[in-house]
Amino acid sequence: MNFDVNEIRDQFPALKQTINGQPLVYLDSTATAQKPQVVIDTVTQYYQTQNANVHRGSHSLTAHATNQFEAARQTIADFIGASSSKEVVWTRGATEALNLIAQTYARSKLKSGDEILIGEVEHHANIVPWQIVAEQTGAKIVKVPMTADCSLDIKAFHQKLSSKTKIVALTQMSNVNGYTPPIRELTQAAHKVGAIAVIDGSQGIVHERTNVADLDADFYVFSGHKIYSPAGIGALYGKYQLLEAMPPWHGGGKMVEKVSFSGTTYSDVPAKFEAGTPNVAGAISLAKAIQWFEQYSINDIEQHLHQLQDFAYQAMCQLEDVKVIGYQPNSNIISFIVDGVHHQDVATLLDKQGIAVRAGHHCAHPFMESVGISGTVRVSFGIYNTIEEVKVFIKALEKALDML
Ligand code: ALA
Repeated sequence: MNFDVNEIRDQFPALKQTINGQPLVYLDSTATAQKPQVVIDTVTQYYQTQNANVHRGSHSLTAHATNQFEAARQTIADFIGASSSKEVVWTRGATEALNLIAQTYARSKLKSGDEILIGEVEHHANIVPWQIVAEQTGAKIVKVPMTADCSLDIKAFHQKLSSKTKIVALTQMSNVNGYTPPIRELTQAAHKVGAIAVIDGSQGIVHERTNVADLDADFYVFSGHKIYSPAGIGALYGKYQLLEAMPPWHGGGKMVEKVSFSGTTYSDVPAKFEAGTPNVAGAISLAKAIQWFEQYSINDIEQHLHQLQDFAYQAMCQLEDVKVIGYQPNSNIISFIVDGVHHQDVATLLDKQGIAVRAGHHCAHPFMESVGISGTVRVSFGIYNTIEEVKVFIKALEKALDML
């Protein structure tokens, strides 16, 4: 499908509203993306006519829901290049997926003295689950610092990697500044010392054609809500042999083969990790969002986003007092601070003019600490933003600066 931003925008009802009396300019797609009508319709139709539990019962509705649910799993597998849909586990999102890996794979494997390598660029979801399991097992967290331009210090990464390293936790793309590490180089280095690589694709999944085999990822996680699907659904990819060998996490229905008081046996993967009634509407609508997204060429999408980012950046560089933090060209994110002004005040003044941005630490305290700031204002572009909107944002920022 041809990339026509106006045609794309038209599909997003949320973008047609006014906020504080001004047309909404939504520049917070990194926090969560808006949803196209086709995805909203998928959720509605599911609950209007298709709602049934899956893998349970024998009536027609449940059979239909089960087929759609499993077809959705296959869509995810195809999208990320998994070799089988058995390697895809539904989760509530990337955060739950990372906790699952930490509490099953890592908790059963790690012992005292083992090391988990984590970059300072990571957000909390790819730090805290590892800290919890390190405390439980006696393993040690090894921090890889950031460089002055807010990238992962690759040299330090290689230096800190050793035979003690058992897990390497890496972001595919930073949610603070859009930095993208050389994933394949790092996963291969991890494998050389016998460690496994866990890739957090929360941000990256929207911005590059992801193939877990090309990345050489042992585990890959992402959330649906950043890729135009509803929140509360996401996926965990794991190499089949790893998933198969892992102990279960949550206990309950459907993750068991046979339950008895003398002992319980567990289902095969992926059901072993999907206790309880799953988010069927979420899974189906995530697959729909991916099909919708895949209509467009990823190169066209990225070219569009990079143009928006570059245009905004060039204009922001002209503004005295605005300091961009760790600018990474060719992404969709710009994080900035205004000298002497709290980031929240800037965001509030923008909001009054209809501009939605995120202000804060972006769930990345170590990143902020490393830069020596408490937070930033972050603008992030989505597939539906236009150059006209960037111009409106720049004008609004100028006005905010005048008022401060
Ligand atoms: N991770 C989301 C963000 O970057 C919530 O805002």
